[in-house]
Amino acid sequence: MLEWKSNRRILIGISGGISAYKIPEIIRAIRKNGNDVEVILTQSATSFITPLTISTLTGRRAWLEGDFLSNEHGWEIPHISLADWAEAFLIAPATANVIRRAALGEAETLLGTAMLATRAPVVLFPAMNVHMWEHPATQRHVEIARTLGYTVISPEEGELACGYEGKGRLPKNEIILEVLWKVLSPKKDLAGKKVLVTAGPTREFMDPVRFLSNPSSGKMGFAIAKTAWYRGGEVTLIKGPTCIEPPYGLRVVNVTTAEEMYDAVLKESEKTDIIVKAAAVGDYKFATTSEQKIKREGKDRIQVTLEENPDIAAEVGKRKREDQILVGFAAESNELIENAISKLNRKNMDMIVANDITAKGSGFESDTNSVAIICKNGHMTRIEGTKEEVAWRLWDVIEMKFLAKEDVR
Ligand SMILES: Cc1cc2nc3c(=O)[nH]c(=O)nc-3n(C[C@H](O)[C@H](O)[C@H](O)COP(=O)(O)O)c2cc1C
Repeated sequence: MLEWKSNRRILIGISGGISAYKIPEIIRAIRKNGNDVEVILTQSATSFITPLTISTLTGRRAWLEGDFLSNEHGWEIPHISLADWAEAFLIAPATANVIRRAALGEAETLLGTAMLATRAPVVLFPAMNVHMWEHPATQRHVEIARTLGYTVISPEEGELACGYEGKGRLPKNEIILEVLWKVLSPKKDLAGKKVLVTAGPTREFMDPVRFLSNPSSGKMGFAIAKTAWYRGGEVTLIKGPTCIEPPYGLRVVNVTTAEEMYDAVLKESEKTDIIVKAAAVGDYKFATTSEQKIKREGKDRIQVTLEENPDIAAEVGKRKREDQILVGFAAESNELIENAISKLNRKNMDMIVANDITAKGSGFESDTNSVAIICKNGHMTRIEGTKEEVAWRLWDVIEMKFLAKEDVR
């Protein structure tokens, strides 16, 4: 786990929407990472979820509207002390009423005044009936809240508790957590940068049901894309077929074959500042493919011919502008460093991540990785840890080598 994801102080405002019942799970997940959570419940929220549930999960009292003008704490003013304490302030669910309050700067309640008093980033997660969400009044309040600096995450589409189908669902807990980590990210060095990441395997079909591929899970590339998003980058992820869902917050382009990956990367890379090629692209495809399923009857052996796929990294390296940074991956099973350096130079990359796929706890499908990052000038940094930690450190190296203007390519 990234170390900055623990020992943080998170204030959560719960307002009176039916999805309030999901928030205890989010509190548990945040606390599990070793963080402190304070919760303000609106008066209506207490009809949906009890203060006892909240205080049991946070290990602290639940703050209620009745605490706003109470003098129980003497000189300590709850809305100010909570606002100052928080490093991030999430409001989930945010009712139509709370969005209105945010837009108008309401200061009659504990939640409203805490929103005004805090300097921490405030993120609202609206959830409501689709007609309430689409109402021009709600939309206007969302727009105003955004111009005031609040982050308002649009609700998801789907089946709603009220029986309607449409936009209005609270995003999944994992998404709420990801948005929280992005807000808390200690580095924003990719703000204003366009980042392109490739991830996952490619597939080369022999017939409609058989293909040639590799065991890449996409986890490393996904971690690189996600951490770039944490750090403020505008990230496009080009991914091959994977079993796991790509991270939240990215523009995702799905491809299947190496040729589709080639076309997508060349198209996207033109408008990109940093390209990280973590996909495991097939070097070969079938010279001929059958439109019908090849039958086994009467054949105890079949012979296939493979031909070379286009070399994406080499082509991007050839077209690369001076102001672009190209980072490649070398997944090797032998002579790791030599092979990686040779690939770096052959393909005009600025940096290569050498990945020993035969090492234990490293490479395909694993949740951890052990890599060597090699720059053109021969400088090498060894990193190991979870794929997320390795990805974060990779961006640290990119920041140090290129973005901090100490360009030592
Ligand atoms: C059963 C029930 C479910 C409700 N669910 C929502 C909801 O999901 N989203 C919403 O914006 N309002 C919802 N409301 C309306 C709010 O509870 C109401 O606007 C309330 O005044 C909000 O107060 P608060 O924003 O101070 O929490 C619901 C009301 C009831 C009775």
